[in-house]
Amino acid sequence: FTSRALDGVQLCITAGPTREAIDPVRYISNHSSGKMGYALATAAADAGARVTLISGPTQLACPERVTRIDVISAQEMYDAALAQMGDCQIFIGCAAVADYRPVSTASQKIKKHEEAMHIELVRNPDIVSAVASHSQRPFTVGFAAETQDVLNYAKGKLERKGLDLIVANDVSNSDIGFNSDENEVLVVTPEQVIPIPQMGKNQLARQLLKVIADAFKA
Ligand code: PMT
Repeated sequence: FTSRALDGVQLCITAGPTREAIDPVRYISNHSSGKMGYALATAAADAGARVTLISGPTQLACPERVTRIDVISAQEMYDAALAQMGDCQIFIGCAAVADYRPVSTASQKIKKHEEAMHIELVRNPDIVSAVASHSQRPFTVGFAAETQDVLNYAKGKLERKGLDLIVANDVSNSDIGFNSDENEVLVVTPEQVIPIPQMGKNQLARQLLKVIADAFKA
């Protein structure tokens, strides 16, 4: 991967989890640390891209030469992503976006009364699908976090979400995927499947960006 392979290219990456508020002190979320998305942002900036990182809540420092937009919820991430569309040539959706949010957020802390309680959930908008169907459509890359039948589910998401490329991530193995320092993926395009073996997320990010840059330029 040459050092300037993405020189001047505008690249937008989502990273980390989203949080969907139940009340002022509770939320629904997941185990994404942001490490994979931040590694991609670092590698893209190193390759000369102009990088905007739309990040859910993480413990990570903003990489050098990267512009970060902080968001909390899926709706905020959606709004931030769509606002970048005039200015984005490659979009990479690495965030673990909550698929559902509570129908309403209680304004005060919910008190316990009954033995059981129910929280009604409603679907969040799909960010990568909206980006891929936008009139100023960038080259659109998604991730697929799966615990079984990884390749088939990833292929389904590639097609359904209208993506150019999807990165299939087996998250049933705790050594890779969510919150680990290493990852192992299958890069899936409509034409081919390219395996990238287990390695540190920083190194994997560089290999992944090489594949993405080649497909973007093809
Ligand atoms: O952050 P780390 O701890 O380093 O972990 C990295 C990771 C495992 C989170 C990452 O590699 C990964 O797989 N990210 C995608 C997680 C995910 O939500 O996958 P999904 O299969 O549920 O979603 C498929 C795609 O749709 C993803 O690109 C996702 O960003 C996108 N999506 C999902 C829901 C939604 N409402 N909007 C979206 O854009």
